[in-house]
Amino acid sequence: MSDAVLVVGNGGREHVLASCLALSPKIGKVYVAPGNPGTTKGKLVNTSSITASNPDGIAIWCQENSVSLTVIGPEAPLAAGIADTLGKANVKCFGPSAAAAQIEASKAWSKSFMTRHNIPTARWESFTDVESACRHIDTADYECLVVKASGLAAGKGVIVAEDKEQAKDAVRSILQESKFGSAGEIVVLEERLVGEEFSVLSFCDGRHAVCMPPAQDHKALREGNTGPNTGGMGAYAPCPQVTTSVMDVIKRDIVQKAVDGMREEGCPYVGALYTGLMLTKDGPKVLEFNCRFGDPEAQVILPLLKSDLYDTLLACVDGKLPEAEPEWHEGRHAAAVVLASEGYPGSYPKGRCITGIDEAEAIDGVRVYQAGTSVTDGKLVTSGGRVLAVSASSAISLDAAIKLAYDGVSHVTFDGAYHRKDIGRSATQA
Ligand code: AMP
Ligand code: GLY
Repeated sequence: MSDAVLVVGNGGREHVLASCLALSPKIGKVYVAPGNPGTTKGKLVNTSSITASNPDGIAIWCQENSVSLTVIGPEAPLAAGIADTLGKANVKCFGPSAAAAQIEASKAWSKSFMTRHNIPTARWESFTDVESACRHIDTADYECLVVKASGLAAGKGVIVAEDKEQAKDAVRSILQESKFGSAGEIVVLEERLVGEEFSVLSFCDGRHAVCMPPAQDHKALREGNTGPNTGGMGAYAPCPQVTTSVMDVIKRDIVQKAVDGMREEGCPYVGALYTGLMLTKDGPKVLEFNCRFGDPEAQVILPLLKSDLYDTLLACVDGKLPEAEPEWHEGRHAAAVVLASEGYPGSYPKGRCITGIDEAEAIDGVRVYQAGTSVTDGKLVTSGGRVLAVSASSAISLDAAIKLAYDGVSHVTFDGAYHRKDIGRSATQA
């Protein structure tokens, strides 16, 4: 008998997770709730009868449909306790409990957790009133210019100020004008770190952690890392600038300490732990933890996986990660370029006809992971800001993977499609 799994979410990250799980010979069906038009081929089946906002309904549905594993994509349902509800119903869930998801859902909690466990991060302080926060900006013995809404703000709650006045304006906009609603009831003020940014995702089983190849996202909208911040305009993995010895430090002094700390504090971490890092002159430091896979990082990391993703995720849930450690395609590289709607990250049109996905995927090594897409009158159209990611992998070089991804991009079109032209360039021209 073959197994059925359920992936919760509707973005490119869930598309690649579902596609990767479908490669397992043990899996017969990958349900995706709600999924997108990309998650409807082969073993992938969308299911609209359940939603992440009703975890009890998901638990019952999983029992009725003999689902052997659920994989939760986004942070919001995890922070709201979906893993706890599924666990109580004896439905296996790859994703942390609400208590463990605080590592992303509350930046104030996450920073104090890092301090408690001596995990290297920017110096910080948290505040609930404007006056004390502004005083701290003036008196801190470090360059206190990074202002963060503590709660979940869809990746938008961080302001890196140019000077103290700008930082104070940011504090006022968050605490006084409620720019990020209740996510901004607490602000975290941080020292501004300088260095190259990258992310390391890890599989965690509550006790053990295994790091995936390091990836670099491109958060800014425009070339040269300029323009407004987005959810991510493209990524590549692994990062040649992140050496094995830096990875050893990250594994030992950051990821393992975090997993040990969570266990010691009574909230063992099961799931993907995303560590956003900056490579400073004093070594790697944590910018943030996220309680899930990154998007678009997942679209470049998972194509490098050689072993069965299902085995590793199940082993994590069962607390037996050492029995199913992931194996990677040595020497393989991946790059992904996001196509966004014109206007994104501001307002953007919807309903633009998308063509060329099949042609792009006809190129060896190229896959298109859909996100903001839907089907109207039988046609694939845009329905979101980040519409899709063209991902490519190559055994030759990172340069070759990037070229393949852009080859793929040249086939995919819709009115007003925008993409960055320099994904991965800083790594290949270093
Ligand atoms: P976060 O969501 O906390 O990762 O912050 C979003 C972005 O803000 C990061 O990807 C960094 O580019 C930037 N950032 C966050 N914290 C700092 C910091 N302490 N110093 C410099 N830049 C930062
Ligand atoms: N790509 C950034 C994130 O997933 O948080």
